[in-house]
Amino acid sequence: MPGTEENSRLAARQAVLAWCGNWMRDYMKSYYNEDEEIQRAMLLKEAHTGRVQKIIGELAVHLGLSEEDMALAELIGLLHDVGRFRQFTVYRTFKDHLSEDHAAAGVRLMDDHRLLEGLLPWEQSLVRFAVEWHNKKAIGPAPDACHLGFAKMIRDADKLDIYHVLEPFLPSEDGSGVSSNFIEKFVEGVQCDYTMVGTEDDKKLVRLMWAYDINFAWTLRRIQERGYLEKLIHCLPKGEKVQRGVARLRGYVESKLAEKDDAGFQSSHACENMGEK
Ligand SMILES: [Fe+2]
Repeated sequence: MPGTEENSRLAARQAVLAWCGNWMRDYMKSYYNEDEEIQRAMLLKEAHTGRVQKIIGELAVHLGLSEEDMALAELIGLLHDVGRFRQFTVYRTFKDHLSEDHAAAGVRLMDDHRLLEGLLPWEQSLVRFAVEWHNKKAIGPAPDACHLGFAKMIRDADKLDIYHVLEPFLPSEDGSGVSSNFIEKFVEGVQCDYTMVGTEDDKKLVRLMWAYDINFAWTLRRIQERGYLEKLIHCLPKGEKVQRGVARLRGYVESKLAEKDDAGFQSSHACENMGEK
């Protein structure tokens, strides 16, 4: 009776999602602080969490995933930044390289609080993997197509919302130009190391280069429709290398938008017997 088994997994995943939703609400509120800077950061991440959960759910629908897998995707969206609240409160920064890896801290938190207990071990593995790799330069070796697919989804949903969050904060025009190592990477279309940001214009390039790391045309279309890239391009310093980098980026975006999206797996059940248990 496969139908019955699927229904019970759907109910189990939805129950975990609802339970974790309540837990997250309380957890986030427990970090509310009289210090204005901390409070602003807490509210920012609370709102980001809600939007990313919604975006990854929409992306799951676009990719044709089942309701069951949509629940798992939403759970990943809900929990992906659970490590952020303590991070900012303790270190007063969201910069991982100056504090701690908030994704690894998030996975530890999920385990310490047994948030995933209602899921089967292979389902837990999918959530842990996606959360752990959502903030890295690239996704680490994935045990199977489902681990990879969910990790790609959360990275896209997260970046789409980060473009939204950062939009009002366009790096200033300080006339310092772009660092030489950054402009070379931009011309080549290779990711920059954001810990090496030296100038305001470097920050613009880092944001533009995220576009190369977007996995699905669905996400890139939204980024483009909202003008996030063009607004950054508009305020870049002029110069031959900058123009070459912009041309490469625009060409890449155009070709990526023509791609047909594919999660890389039909159903997470296909990966049930693979990967970590
Ligand atoms: Fe994050």
